[in-house]
Amino acid sequence: MTLPASTASPHRFPPDFVWGVATSAFQIEGAATEDGKGASIWDSFCRVPGAIADASNGDVACDHYHRWREDLDLIASLGVDAYRFSVSWPRVRPGGSGAWNDKGLAFYDRLVDGLLARGIKPYLTLNHWDLPAELQAHGGWAHRDTAHRFVEYAQGIAARLGDRVVTITTHNEPWVMAVLGHETGIFAPGVKDRATAAQAAHHLLLSHGLALQALRAQGCKSRLGIVLNLSPVQPATDNESDRAAARLEDGKLLRWYMDPLFKAAYPADVLEHLGADAPPVRPGDMAAIAAPMDFLGVNYYSRAVVSAAGPWDATTSGRPITDMGWEVYPEGLTELLLRLHRDYAVPPLYVTENGGAFKDVFDSGRVDDRDRTEYIATHIAAVGEALRQGVPMAGYMVWSLLDNFEWASGYAKRFGIVHVDYQTQRRTPKDSALWYREFLKSQNALRGATRTGATSFQGG
Ligand code: FCB
Repeated sequence: MTLPASTASPHRFPPDFVWGVATSAFQIEGAATEDGKGASIWDSFCRVPGAIADASNGDVACDHYHRWREDLDLIASLGVDAYRFSVSWPRVRPGGSGAWNDKGLAFYDRLVDGLLARGIKPYLTLNHWDLPAELQAHGGWAHRDTAHRFVEYAQGIAARLGDRVVTITTHNEPWVMAVLGHETGIFAPGVKDRATAAQAAHHLLLSHGLALQALRAQGCKSRLGIVLNLSPVQPATDNESDRAAARLEDGKLLRWYMDPLFKAAYPADVLEHLGADAPPVRPGDMAAIAAPMDFLGVNYYSRAVVSAAGPWDATTSGRPITDMGWEVYPEGLTELLLRLHRDYAVPPLYVTENGGAFKDVFDSGRVDDRDRTEYIATHIAAVGEALRQGVPMAGYMVWSLLDNFEWASGYAKRFGIVHVDYQTQRRTPKDSALWYREFLKSQNALRGATRTGATSFQGG
């Protein structure tokens, strides 16, 4: 196919750069009560009236639990190197502690073997938000014990799959679980309390560090890390009040996670801001959280613009806006990656999620989603620019392989590069998937050339 001129990336990436697509268990698997799976907090949250925009749930989703073979063939057809997926904790250990569910574990065994058989590297995430509901009944992430249950879960999965998965990510986006799940309450478990959110954040970070220590102690060979949702945070104007608000927001979104992980301390300005709501920290916690990581995953969708006067209106920027209402701002990704590299001793970085929801039109078996292609291509170029400026970038993964259950937005927002007809479960690659496939072909051709010494990485 011909590419829109503006989407041809001028960048060349290192031959070992990993290209992938990403999904998560709750958003695609369905089979919510099958083969012994327990309920997750998202199963419960979907039952709360008004919680999900289209009143939907994850009972069937993309029916991936039954269609995984077809989906793996689809992934292979794109020519990617890697597939990022998550394990559903309540599918493999329904109550969060106690008995393991062998049928659930066997599903992930098949999935991992199926990926390897197709030459695709498995990138596994342990916690993409679907905490067992049973653990929520005991306080969930606000309760310190959950961190210890998580370590057991991590150990069980590593013992079963660690010989075959390339990376194990502890948590996907702790900020989202803590803040959207426990402070604004728009995500599961729907708690609205700032102190509880701060405790949840601390226990998520603690469980990450403890899990890393435990997995290394058991000789796990997979590379270990975490995935954060990060953005550059910019003031709406140059006024001191906006700049102060942006600094604090940067503290809450980025430094609250990056500082403990890489500097073993919470940022002083955010601690001061939280006051009595700051989480109780026990001796040894911060050292545990700062356990060395083999990689850091960054999920990037847009920048954050902060105004002291109230929410900033993204439509005022003149940039395209996605169907989520998020401003398209690819240069923010370069800025963010440079900043992480400058301010922290980061290990190799992956963009573990990047993509856009757009109002797709399915017409005669085709989705002409050039807005999504443009989004992906310009963000890939932004990663190339970060690489050129010396950031240790190791990979890039599109969110998402499939249209899927977009949390509180339900099925109305489509992020897939592959269209899903939820009536028939038919998958149709959108033009963006065809573009990605062609792009990867060209990258592979360059790799061949690099192997014979003809080219090396160059920025454009
Ligand atoms: C991220 C989530 C992912 C998906 C995208 C759009 O915050 O990790 O599951 O919903 O946003």
